[in-house]
Amino acid sequence: MAVLRRSLSTAAAEAALVLVTLGLVFAAGLAGWAIGHTHRQGGGTSSTSTASATQAAVSPAVAAGAHTFVQFACSQCHGPQGRGGVSPDVPALTSVGSSLTVAQLSKIIDHGLGESKNPTKPYMPVWGEVISATQVSDLVAYIKAGLPAVSETDPVPIPQGQGPAVAGSALYIRYGCINCHGPNGLGGVPNPLSPDKTIPPLSGQDFRGEFNTDAKIAAVIRSGSVIGKAPIVSMPHWGGIIPQGDVTALIAYLKTLK
Ligand code: HEC
Ligand code: HEC
Repeated sequence: MAVLRRSLSTAAAEAALVLVTLGLVFAAGLAGWAIGHTHRQGGGTSSTSTASATQAAVSPAVAAGAHTFVQFACSQCHGPQGRGGVSPDVPALTSVGSSLTVAQLSKIIDHGLGESKNPTKPYMPVWGEVISATQVSDLVAYIKAGLPAVSETDPVPIPQGQGPAVAGSALYIRYGCINCHGPNGLGGVPNPLSPDKTIPPLSGQDFRGEFNTDAKIAAVIRSGSVIGKAPIVSMPHWGGIIPQGDVTALIAYLKTLK
């Protein structure tokens, strides 16, 4: 395959491009046909047209909130669109939009909730140092709007059959580790009131020296590490949230870092 790819002439590459484009045009045509078809059957109110109408009606703040909700892995604990079902310890967010005020919701996101050293229970992490005021207000707008469906908010796909380190690099983004520990595990996100003043890197000699076995890394991912109350950011408890296979893949990825 590699040999084949290398020997592809420009003409062949262009032909391939035309084929791909034709494929897309065909797929689009098919989708168009499917939509038209559903329309006819459903008398003009198919679910497809409802979904696009809903998305068009979403304000920029609500749309941004929906993306932030996925980017910061809120959806990994609270379920897609905050519908719950991930862990009995993490509530659904579908009713807090009406039961809590903007101020209450902003405070919970900034300061966390139920933070405890009990390693078997996940808690609501402290986000105030990590998420900007604009992002928090977008998240609140999204929750207040009833966490509607917004297009292109799927979490990053996890490559299958390419080994645990590749899967782990995608999981590092999907679970939002990257927001706190930085790209490539380089750290550097400020955590001013913590002893280190910054969220630690997951690479480098100090990290490797202290976390020198898979078991030690797995333990801190599962049980977190509460280093103080808000506004100090602590390591969330991911036990009961991240399945064992994903923890193994995350560790394989961390071991590839500098
Ligand atoms: C590691 C898992 C986890 C992540 C990630 C997480 N949460 Fe939470 N969240 C929780 C838990 C657990 C609670 C319940 C805490 C309690 O009641 O003691 C909670 C509670 C909440 C509440 C209050 C719900 C209520 O019924 O009072 C809101 C609002 C909330 N989270 C929003 C968010 C948002 C927004 C994000 C993303 C920025 C987020 N959460 C990310 C675990 C998580
Ligand atoms: C809300 C921010 C936040 C998120 C999200 C987060 N961490 Fe952490 N993590 C921390 C903080 C803060 C510490 C330092 C805890 C301490 O010093 O005891 C830490 C510590 C760690 C450590 C131990 C390193 C050390 O030097 O103490 C590992 C390993 C780790 N995190 C892995 C992960 C992985 C994997 C993810 C994603 C599944 C993740 N973290 C998500 C904040 C976060």
